Amino acid sequence: MNHFDYRDGQLCAEDVPLSEIAAAVGTPFYCYSTATLERHFRVFSEAMPKGALVAYAVKANGSLAVIKTLAKLGAGADIVSGGELKKALAAGVPASKIVFSGVGKTRAEMAAGLDAQIYQFNVEGEEELDVLSEVASSKGATASVALRVNPDVDAKTLAKISTGKAENKFGIAWSRVKAAFAHAAKLPGINVAGVALHIGSQITELGPYREAFAKAVALVKNLRADGYQISRIDLGGGLGVPYNDKMAPPLPESYGAVVREAVAGLDAQLIVEPGRLITANAGVLVAQVLYVKRGEAREFLILDAGMNDLIRPALYDAWHDIVPVRHSSAHAKVYDVVGPVCESTDLFARDRELPAVSAGDLVAILSAGAYGAVQASSYNARGLAPEVLVKGRQFAVTRPRQTVDDMISQEQWPDWL
Ligand SMILES: Cc1ncc(COP(=O)(O)O)c(C=O)c1O
Repeated sequence: MNHFDYRDGQLCAEDVPLSEIAAAVGTPFYCYSTATLERHFRVFSEAMPKGALVAYAVKANGSLAVIKTLAKLGAGADIVSGGELKKALAAGVPASKIVFSGVGKTRAEMAAGLDAQIYQFNVEGEEELDVLSEVASSKGATASVALRVNPDVDAKTLAKISTGKAENKFGIAWSRVKAAFAHAAKLPGINVAGVALHIGSQITELGPYREAFAKAVALVKNLRADGYQISRIDLGGGLGVPYNDKMAPPLPESYGAVVREAVAGLDAQLIVEPGRLITANAGVLVAQVLYVKRGEAREFLILDAGMNDLIRPALYDAWHDIVPVRHSSAHAKVYDVVGPVCESTDLFARDRELPAVSAGDLVAILSAGAYGAVQASSYNARGLAPEVLVKGRQFAVTRPRQTVDDMISQEQWPDWL
């Protein structure tokens, strides 16, 4: 459920017509709904066993305002870089609720995490363990660590967002897990407290979760039998969301039932890392139609938003519903909806049926709140689109549009030019 609805023929974010925001900030822009963010976080958290740490995966949407909205509800943060660490702290997430994931942490990032005294590092390899041990020891600190294991489970999602198969770069190879724990136990500055996994994103079946969680729980029991003190289990994120009416991924409560069943009686601190589920349907990208261009065999709707603003369709062939901002009962037409970027992959939708639109009309690309603005670039010297947060009848620009002057001011001339 989300809070983007037509009222009096106008698509609104909560109580604010998107056309009003467009008039104030120009297009394209991202718009997020506070009520939807809050609802998604609450529904997900309530589906988890009591006491679980729900560490919002900042990579899905790193807007400070979004993180803070969630932090105020008690969210922790799952971060994957020193940059995300700074953002999570700046948005008010307590360090005691921050989990540092990621396959390539630098020494500087580790040091920053240790200085902030974050809850946990999810370490993805023995090589990384050695470096974390060195960095922690040099500071006289101890890093609380979960080892992220690769359970070799097929998440049955898109290959490009699958992370838990043996061929993926993530996690410690299943055959090396015991050796990695033994290695970690001998290292100074390391306290191995848990087992972590994350098998992929936009997961729409519960079976892979059942399989992976059962492996993780069995591993915790096995390690405990070997004398390790394993007090935490991190089951990652990845629950899929509906990108259109035909998709019906499992509801948080069904996913929660799988989690509960897996960890029942384990007596371990549970950590989960949802990202997409919280933010995807809490955000839209609003664009203006620049041209309706008749091609040889098709008609192109050329928007002022491009793949630099939202790369998911180009990168993953992802589907996003696209709707007119002003409700229309015009006859349906079939368009290729494209952006202005000089790439043929700058295509939001091929052969998409939409009510007939004209140049100047506004359209909303739905479900754009996760992996949208965070993956944007300034390709073609197109400034990053602004981000706007709505709450009831209020809206605020939380990140202004990046101007070309901003971009130029960040470059420097070499002496010889
Ligand atoms: C380690 C980790 N945790 C959590 C997530 C969040 O996944 P999602 O946004 O699908 O919930 C990701 C995303 O791929 C991830 O890599």
